[in-house]
Amino acid sequence: MPLPVIGQNPCEGPGEWPMRLLERTSFLETLSHYATDARQGSGRLVLISGESGMGKTVLIEAFQQRTANVRWLWGACDGIRTPRPLGPLFDIGMQAGGELAELCRRDATRDQMFAAFLAEADASATLTVVVIEDVHWADEATIDLLNVLGRRLGRMRALLLATYRDDELADDHPLRVVLGDLATQRATRRMRLPPLSEAAVRDLVGERDVDAAELHRITGGNPFFGTAHEVRTGRTAGDRGRRAHRRTSRSIAAVVAALRCAGGRELDQRNSRRGRRRIALQARAGTDGG
Ligand SMILES: Nc1ncnc2c1ncn2[C@@H]1O[C@H](COP(=O)(O)OP(=O)(O)OP(=O)(O)O)[C@@H](O)[C@H]1O
Ligand SMILES: [Mg+2]
Repeated sequence: MPLPVIGQNPCEGPGEWPMRLLERTSFLETLSHYATDARQGSGRLVLISGESGMGKTVLIEAFQQRTANVRWLWGACDGIRTPRPLGPLFDIGMQAGGELAELCRRDATRDQMFAAFLAEADASATLTVVVIEDVHWADEATIDLLNVLGRRLGRMRALLLATYRDDELADDHPLRVVLGDLATQRATRRMRLPPLSEAAVRDLVGERDVDAAELHRITGGNPFFGTAHEVRTGRTAGDRGRRAHRRTSRSIAAVVAALRCAGGRELDQRNSRRGRRRIALQARAGTDGG
């Protein structure tokens, strides 16, 4: 199996940049501040939350684009029934090479791997940014790793960015307890991505024949649905001809159809049952309202 490219998100591959990331400037600036803290020896664990499609991954990729002199190590949890224990640490180990990679290959003990990872994250002459994606799917050993890291990062020159869908954490999810513990650690910072405003959805819609206010209402400002719609309808002002002035129920129906499509196919790939349910409900509401 080919190894993931060093320094790139191995799950998503290189994104299409430059993309227009709306209403996230302040979050990028805050991440830059945390990177500065980490370079000075006050490492940070940043818990980046938001529902599926809210832009957690693209935020980190945008941060990567604008941050020089950093070594990036990416790991991700998988939404499968039996996730491999410490799956993200194996991703990271194979990118980092050296002792950690060797321990991964040997299936070493958990303590050995944790120790090697801590040493690796702190060792580089440049700042190391470790990304662990989708920790709502983390196995218990990975949750322990987050806990261990959260307690030690404050004295390390490393930045750990962990993403999760906060709307998919049941009350008894093991991650909840650890998030509570981590909240009291001085290295921990929380970042919750809010929905896009109506103005931003209007920006995404551009010249297309869609009522932005209605799209915002239907999607709840979730940028993924905004862009999914844009890709699927692909209609421009030029296409509209004489109908340019009309914002009819047909255009809303097109949005709803696009959202159904996104809900049924793309969200399915994202394993988000809750997301599919929500979009189906919103689509129904949109049809009725259109
Ligand atoms: N701020 C934004 N401005 C414009 N488009 C955005 C923004 N945020 C996200 N998008 C669009 O939504 C898509 C989904 O974003 P992303 O994959 O980062 O979501 P996510 O929060 O990581 O979702 P998941 O929990 O499913 O991994 C992006 O590919 C992009 O097209
Ligand atoms: Mg993501």
